[in-house]
Amino acid sequence: MKVEEELKQIAQEVAVCTRCNLHYSRKKAVPGEGPANARILFIGEGPGFHENEQGRPFVGQAGKYLDELLGKIGMKRSDVFIANVVKCRPPGNRDPLPEELSACSEYLERQIQAINPRVIVTLGRYSMARFVPNAKISEIHGQSMQVKGRLVVAMYHPAAALHQGSLKPTLERDFSQLPQLIARAEQAPVYEDRPAEEKQQQPPKQLNLF
Ligand code: URA
Ligand code: SF4
Repeated sequence: MKVEEELKQIAQEVAVCTRCNLHYSRKKAVPGEGPANARILFIGEGPGFHENEQGRPFVGQAGKYLDELLGKIGMKRSDVFIANVVKCRPPGNRDPLPEELSACSEYLERQIQAINPRVIVTLGRYSMARFVPNAKISEIHGQSMQVKGRLVVAMYHPAAALHQGSLKPTLERDFSQLPQLIARAEQAPVYEDRPAEEKQQQPPKQLNLF
């Protein structure tokens, strides 16, 4: 299946998904969006109020700040793919529950496989935990890690930086490294993913900080 078609297929499944309890309270599911050939994938936590209304990721305050952060490094939202670890809004913006994260996980995995981005930026703790389960964001933010042949960089969530202004310079500094990182990732040989069965037996353990 072509990448665009697979992404469309995933979005259609997400729109009517009932795999976890979040479907009861959602207005619109938010599959994520961006170009099928995006070199960089941002993964946030889950839809908030405005995202739930519009069915699009990062369209509220945190989204405006994300646009600003991208602008500062000469990128636009339309250059990148933006998704979340859960596709439906947790009521009152509470943290996603473990069973919701695992119920939704396959959609994000399929998106990653389809897009095959060179660089993944995780925004916030839940997104980071998917790739580096026991890490502390205060310790690893901004560092690039090789996870299953991809560069993964954990960053603070833009909403966290809006709430806690002291994180802003940190997040902006981490963002400023992205162009260089993308360029470096592009020079590396193209990564061909292994078959799904094989991957499931191998948790993302190998973690080379550099
Ligand atoms: N915060 C997120 O983590 N994701 C969104 O889509 C919006 C806000
Ligand atoms: Fe389905 Fe994910 Fe929405 Fe739960 S959060 S209903 S698993 S799309």
